Amino acid sequence: MANQEIKIVGFAGSLRDSSVNRLLLRSAINLAPAHMLIEELYIHDVPLYNGDIEDQGPPQSVIAFKEAVASSDGLLIVSPEYNHGIPAVTKNLIDWASRRLSHPGNVLDGKPVSIMTIAGGASGLGTYVQPQIRQVLVYPGALVMPNGDIGISGGMTNFDETGHLKDDIAISKVKQNLLSFYEWIVRLNN
Ligand SMILES: Cc1cc2nc3c(=O)[nH]c(=O)nc-3n(C[C@H](O)[C@H](O)[C@H](O)COP(=O)(O)O)c2cc1C
Repeated sequence: MANQEIKIVGFAGSLRDSSVNRLLLRSAINLAPAHMLIEELYIHDVPLYNGDIEDQGPPQSVIAFKEAVASSDGLLIVSPEYNHGIPAVTKNLIDWASRRLSHPGNVLDGKPVSIMTIAGGASGLGTYVQPQIRQVLVYPGALVMPNGDIGISGGMTNFDETGHLKDDIAISKVKQNLLSFYEWIVRLNN
């Protein structure tokens, strides 16, 4: 099972063009261990959750997002922290993903999840938002990796001019998170 091929989907909880969370997600894609493939989900056109929209049949953006999560072996959430809490973009995606009544159902139930956070400033690490993301994933039944969340401070200073992660400590944290996530998924599959 050690060489099991694992497909992860990931989203960044920010819509900003130069989002450091999206850069971190893309770095994770490049730093993924052997046998782990990470695909970035395009989430910009997922609307705010609205029960009326859901009742009419969610738009293709929502269906595509949910189907991608459903067909993956695990979900990687890379999120900012806003006011020591969950940004609306991240929470909105979790809410849509959890909806049982619209196709393809609650795609978080039984889904392994790993969490990374990166803050724009020098002091924040996302340590307030991490347990909150974890908390809202419990009710829909996600299997959040029990430890190994990573938080990075310093925003853009972690990246070179081409957007690649250059900070050695940050690189090591990302690699460790992904290795642990791989092992967590293999363990669950067994
Ligand atoms: C409304 C708002 C609240 C924020 N609150 C926090 C916070 O609580 N902790 C923190 O570390 N950074 C906070 N920040 C700064 C973000 O870490 C920074 O804007 C970061 O770059 C956002 O991620 P992004 O680059 O992926 O969009 C806040 C930013 C905004 C816009």
